[in-house]
Amino acid sequence: MLVRKRGVLRSVVVALCAIGWGALVIGGCSEESRYQVLSFLFEGVPKPGEKPQWQQVTHLARRPPPAKATATPAPVVIAKEKYPFGWLPALLKTVPHDAAGYPDMVAAFKEKKIDPLPGPEQDHVVPKAKKVDEEEITLIPEGKTKCSFSHEIHTTLVTCKSCHPGVFKMKTGEEMSMDAMGDGKFCGFCHGKVAFPITGECVRCHPAMKKKAAKKPPKEKLLEGEVKLTRAKSSDANLSGIPPASFPHLPHRVNYRCYACHNTIFPMKEEGTKPITMQDISAGKYCGVCHNGKIAFSGDDLGSCSRCHP
Ligand code: HEC
Ligand code: HEC
Ligand code: HEC
Ligand code: HEC
Ligand code: HEC
Ligand code: HEC
Repeated sequence: MLVRKRGVLRSVVVALCAIGWGALVIGGCSEESRYQVLSFLFEGVPKPGEKPQWQQVTHLARRPPPAKATATPAPVVIAKEKYPFGWLPALLKTVPHDAAGYPDMVAAFKEKKIDPLPGPEQDHVVPKAKKVDEEEITLIPEGKTKCSFSHEIHTTLVTCKSCHPGVFKMKTGEEMSMDAMGDGKFCGFCHGKVAFPITGECVRCHPAMKKKAAKKPPKEKLLEGEVKLTRAKSSDANLSGIPPASFPHLPHRVNYRCYACHNTIFPMKEEGTKPITMQDISAGKYCGVCHNGKIAFSGDDLGSCSRCHP
């Protein structure tokens, strides 16, 4: 037992001596002999005075590395045309309709199916919307014909000046009747021309009435809110047979609130009171505020004449 232990001890001592000697030889001797010893043992040892050359060592993985998700190529962005052919009928299909069959623009607005801008979007700058007046006015307090007027719904779209004092004096108790409205007065100034008509769903204005479909099917034309514009007396076009320009409210009102145009660009008056010329439009006035080739098709574009002069 003892003998064996001693033998092991001796070989350990010998091995330690050998390692120590080797270290002494490498560390203690000249650069030249260190190089000789080391280059004998290892590959790529720099010669004395030579800078070490680092080599990229590639280890072959035993198993191919897991496939990295290849970066998805950047999607090809095709500038979306804002108003592609047929955009209006497509939009109207998504808009809810009232029981009488008219597009319910109030619901469409609330459900964000339409987002009419408060003004023309110049150089992509969207103007700020106005503060909404929340006043609710009772016109007929009770009974079947109970009727109130919401300033909130209206001032979201219409500016005060479009109604006061032209259409309504700012005082309750004015004599109003359905007949007068049918003649385009009071509520009929807009309802039946641009907004849903008084012959449509009664319950939208008289909440105590029964919800029922109108007897007459709606004339879609009514809500186009087509305005034939008057021609300047001085114009040569009176002789040339170019048909008078026509302004359709529908494609405009789904894109803009009424006060984007009324009463800044246009007064809310019948028959286009201010005679407009093509020179005005080219100069960026009236229709030319938007019909300039940037916001909407240009008035100078020969291919577009018939869209405004149908
Ligand atoms: C769509 C049309 C319309 C718009 C827009 C409108 N109003 Fe009115 N306003 C009315 C009607 C209708 C009445 C009731 C008139 C009546 O009964 O004779 C009224 C009444 C009023 C009254 C009297 C209220 C009362 O209790 O007697 C004031 C004040 C008034 N409006 C202020 C405003 C202001 C301010 C704005 C803009 C923020 C505005 N209105 C926008 C239609 C409108
Ligand atoms: C200056 C134009 C204008 C006048 C005048 C006007 N309205 Fe309106 N009104 C609108 C517009 C625009 C809407 C949005 C709905 C639409 O376009 O069909 C609307 C919506 C409404 C709604 C909301 C309906 C709903 O389903 O939520 C009611 C109710 C209403 N008007 C009642 C009246 C009454 C009553 C009067 C008269 C005292 C009146 N309006 C006068 C333009 C007008
Ligand atoms: C745009 C809103 C609106 C719509 C839609 C509407 N009315 Fe009216 N109606 C009014 C207003 C405003 C008055 C008058 C309130 C006042 O006297 O101040 C009125 C008054 C009336 C009156 C009592 C005065 C009169 O002229 O006879 C009757 C009846 C009436 N409406 C029936 C109807 C019926 C039926 C319908 C559906 C076919 C209808 N209304 C649709 C707004 C509307
Ligand atoms: C954005 C709508 C729009 C477009 C596009 C447009 N016009 Fe007009 N144009 C009008 C309006 C609005 C008026 C004034 C009402 C009227 O006289 O018919 C008008 C008036 C005219 C007039 C009579 C007034 C004047 O300036 O002498 C002529 C002529 C005319 N347009 C020719 C053209 C021709 C040609 C084109 C195509 C190159 C064209 N318009 C394109 C909207 C337009
Ligand atoms: C893009 C511009 C524009 C917008 C937005 C617009 N209008 Fe007009 N509107 C016009 C023009 C143009 C006329 C013709 C009047 C003129 O040239 O002086 C007109 C005329 C009118 C008239 C008189 C029409 C007639 O036949 O008696 C009413 C009422 C009217 N607008 C209501 C509205 C209402 C309500 C809205 C919002 C729901 C609205 N407009 C949004 C441009 C616009
Ligand atoms: C506030 C901006 C603005 C003003 C002001 C404006 N338009 Fe437009 N208009 C538009 C936009 C946006 C469109 C949608 C463009 C499209 O359909 O290519 C449009 C579309 C039209 C269309 C095409 C409708 C269709 O269904 O093809 C006609 C016609 C038109 N406008 C005529 C006019 C006339 C006439 C005037 C002046 C009396 C006018 N617009 C003023 C913004 C405006």
